[in-house]
Amino acid sequence: MGLGLAWLLIGATLLVLEPAMLTWPHSHPHVVALTHAWVLGFFVTVACGAVYQLAPVALGTTLRNERYGWWHLGLQAAGVPLMVYSFWVWDMTLLGHAGFAVALGILLFSVNTWRTVRQSGRGGTVAWALNLAAGWLLLTVLLGLLLAANRHWYFVPLDPIALLRAHAHVGLIGFFVTLLQGVGFQLVPMFTLGEVRDWRLPNTGMWLTQIGLVVLTPALAWGLGWLGLLGALLITAGMACSAVALRRALASRKKRHFDPGTRAFLWGGAVVVLSGLAGAVLVAPGLPGGSVPGGYSALVYAVLAVGGGLLPCIAGMMCKIVPFLTWMRAYGPRVGRGPTPAASALASAGLERWGLGLQFAAIAPLLIGTWTLHETWLQVGAWLLATGVVLFAADMLGVLRHLRLAASPPSATKASPKS
Ligand code: HEM
Repeated sequence: MGLGLAWLLIGATLLVLEPAMLTWPHSHPHVVALTHAWVLGFFVTVACGAVYQLAPVALGTTLRNERYGWWHLGLQAAGVPLMVYSFWVWDMTLLGHAGFAVALGILLFSVNTWRTVRQSGRGGTVAWALNLAAGWLLLTVLLGLLLAANRHWYFVPLDPIALLRAHAHVGLIGFFVTLLQGVGFQLVPMFTLGEVRDWRLPNTGMWLTQIGLVVLTPALAWGLGWLGLLGALLITAGMACSAVALRRALASRKKRHFDPGTRAFLWGGAVVVLSGLAGAVLVAPGLPGGSVPGGYSALVYAVLAVGGGLLPCIAGMMCKIVPFLTWMRAYGPRVGRGPTPAASALASAGLERWGLGLQFAAIAPLLIGTWTLHETWLQVGAWLLATGVVLFAADMLGVLRHLRLAASPPSATKASPKS
């Protein structure tokens, strides 16, 4: 979580320093560097950290190999900065080496996740989502290495931009959307005190998305528009099923009021479904849109999906799980020995609300700027986003600060008697 937060700050800073990047072609080296700072530095790091902590809780088991987890963290911490730098200066040889280190870390993550799921003996949507997401992430990094090698030797007889699209969608949909379609049904009911009474719809949603992605990936790589459209519609239908199922689970909740984190997660989920439709428009033959900047372009779609969808989902999820996990580690062993605060009291509601709110508000000017190529809009959006990110990071660091209590003996605790 700490490493992910550092990358979030770096990603937001890069955009403040050069907001005009969003008016350039998306395959420009600096745009690809910015993309990986966000997706690989922030989103993947945080999502993997969450899986290490939550998969054992959700599956009622322990993490199969903690040492693999530490190796993964080290490889990710060393490899991603080098990757972002090599994209920036477009050094494909350095990218190959750094990418190999990152891929090795992801391999350890995937093997660890599969073994943890197998050890638990569990099936069902959450277990399958974890298995599938780990598989898609591994495929993404392998495709990334192939892309890097191909940019060096040009041995794949396909358009590199088409390959880039396939790699990007395997990562964004295969890893993140699959994970959200599974783990979301564990987390949202847990934090709102609701329940999933019927798993058929979440299951259908997840599998429709999987089938859609299996159709979409080769269609993107080989530039087959109609097949791509079919894939995009299947994926969107799958995500819509998951959204309806989540709505049903929420109808049974006992906590009527949504806190900022849950609200952000739900808004982000709605935008992710909308992005599916936006993607269908991009891939459909004869409809406007493409890699050329200006108007409805691939970058507008990316800002919507990643900034408007994925960011509130992951940041909202962090607002719930970081206090929860920190509380378990810092105060769990002290329960019954003295007063302990409530997990929700570790975070600052004001920082959370403003942080998430500004991040979400930034998306409109960023979209307008990317569409019209007006830099002023992009500057406004980049500053709003950065302000939201700083407030959010301050909130998260304030929560993580409680971890130092975990290192001190229970008698040294000075907790406020809130619960
Ligand atoms: C070892 C890890 C990885 C390597 C070596 C790698 C490599 C690459 C390369 C070489 C490109 C395209 C450059 C071009 O041909 O113009 C690219 C684009 C992209 N990658 Fe990765 N990648 C990795 C991991 C990931 C992950 C995990 C994700 C997402 C989950 C991801 C998302 C993207 C996206 C969205 C683009 C499009 C960027 C743009 O158009 O601006 N990559 N990657």
